Amino acid sequence: MKREIPSGGPWITEKEVAYVTDACRNGWYQNWHNYLDRFEAAMASFTNTKYAIATSSCTGALHIAMAALGIKPGDEVIIPETTWIATASCVCYLGATPVFVDVHRDTWCMDPQCFQAAITSKTKAVIPVHMFGHPADMDEINAIAEKHGVTVIEDAAPGIGSLYHEKPAGSLGFAAAFSFQGAKPFTTGEGGVLVTNDKKFYERAYYYWDHCRDNSGMLNVTGIGLKYKMSNIQAALGLAQVERAQEIINHRRQIFFWYKDRLGDVVGMSMNVEKPGIYNNYYVPTIILDKDFGITRDEVIKRMDDEGIRSRPFFRCISKLPMFKPVKTPVADHLAACGINLPCASKLSEDDISYAAGIIRKILGVS
Ligand SMILES: Cc1ncc(COP(=O)(O)O)c(C=O)c1O
Repeated sequence: MKREIPSGGPWITEKEVAYVTDACRNGWYQNWHNYLDRFEAAMASFTNTKYAIATSSCTGALHIAMAALGIKPGDEVIIPETTWIATASCVCYLGATPVFVDVHRDTWCMDPQCFQAAITSKTKAVIPVHMFGHPADMDEINAIAEKHGVTVIEDAAPGIGSLYHEKPAGSLGFAAAFSFQGAKPFTTGEGGVLVTNDKKFYERAYYYWDHCRDNSGMLNVTGIGLKYKMSNIQAALGLAQVERAQEIINHRRQIFFWYKDRLGDVVGMSMNVEKPGIYNNYYVPTIILDKDFGITRDEVIKRMDDEGIRSRPFFRCISKLPMFKPVKTPVADHLAACGINLPCASKLSEDDISYAAGIIRKILGVS
């Protein structure tokens, strides 16, 4: 019988239901921010940072980060070609220019050499992305950035729970943004978090986050700010998820290992890696069709879909979207043309993965 194998989705337990119910019943009046406070404290602790701001999205967290850095028209911000549009949008919102650079063939994260080559006198920030859970090469990126006076903001939307030489994603740059959107390993429905160790930056970001209100009075607005607050009810959901962090990450990693076990031997196909010193949350198990299997990537996705297996094409190359000027990024081009994100919903079982992997082998014509 044909099954339904969803591409993404969370793992919700009675704990989440209890916290959200409590927030609905009691999280008003003097309690309106009790779960927000606990969620922010939990995220600061989980990422080993001092300050956290809960936001309505990761896009919003990135936007207030750029605003707090003072990014403005004429500035350049370097981002990887392989990412979701949010990494570029937050730069464009402020009238600055995103500069796109190629990624590593195996980690799919920003190539530090390409970052270095793209730096100009206008470069103010760099936003490495921890693609599908693998942290970017942060030692090299930080060293290059420091040399050139460039601020490093991690786009950790896909990186929650991943480690880089034992340090959590989110603690690896000057600040970091996480996503709690519904397809991410931890969710608040929609949501995000900005974390940092820098008090001044935190205060500046906090100021932008809620319409540039200052501390001198309740409605004292002193600039044109942004509005990216998260609700207490969402924070209740997020808190329960963060309190179950290791259980959720373990299961997401297990999903990847089930795929790896069943597809890792296919010649001409590569999958997510875990470089030495890295702990990858393996948020999105992905296959790259490095050789010609006699069928196009899009046809593979279509045939999987016919069998109820909901996959996605790898991220498009951002500079090749109609609003930008295309740059030369051969690695990102290959990934965009040949990559498939496999279903990774938290509720998937070993049996689901066996089914999906069996169909993929059949479609590719490998025994
Ligand atoms: C790399 C990356 N950055 C940023 C975002 C934006 O996250 P959000 O949808 O929470 O704004 C996403 C969302 O998928 C993402 O994949």
